[in-house]
Amino acid sequence: MPIVWREQMSVGIKSIDEDHQRLIALVNQFADIIRQGGGGLGGQSEGAVRTLLGRLQAYTNEHFAREERIQDQANYPGLKENRTHHAALIVELNRKIERYAAGAKAEKQLTGEELSAFLNSWLVEHIIKVDLKMKAHKFSGVW
Ligand SMILES: [Fe+2]
Repeated sequence: MPIVWREQMSVGIKSIDEDHQRLIALVNQFADIIRQGGGGLGGQSEGAVRTLLGRLQAYTNEHFAREERIQDQANYPGLKENRTHHAALIVELNRKIERYAAGAKAEKQLTGEELSAFLNSWLVEHIIKVDLKMKAHKFSGVW
């Protein structure tokens, strides 16, 4: 099931919502490739998959940096907690992608389906459990 962005997922800051929509699109694209079969590593779309995952990693870094910048400018009380959370999420994301990308050479192999399931919960958890708390804070004119 692809992730569908809904209004309830809005944190009330346009640039952050747009980032989340873009991240969701990347995660859904990966799921699509895996679901279609023949994709993934060793398949026809190996190049596309590697590019897509690279883009996801780069965009995640960009997004977290933007979020922290906005929170910092607005003296958001959850900034410190979010920084720690973001750093852990990036480590986890990179580790999973490395395991997947190493294929059979990985110490503990991760399939495309497993990576896809991880990405879905990883992203939804970030948006729902962490970012939605931003709704309660007043951000004004910082984005
Ligand atoms: Fe976010």
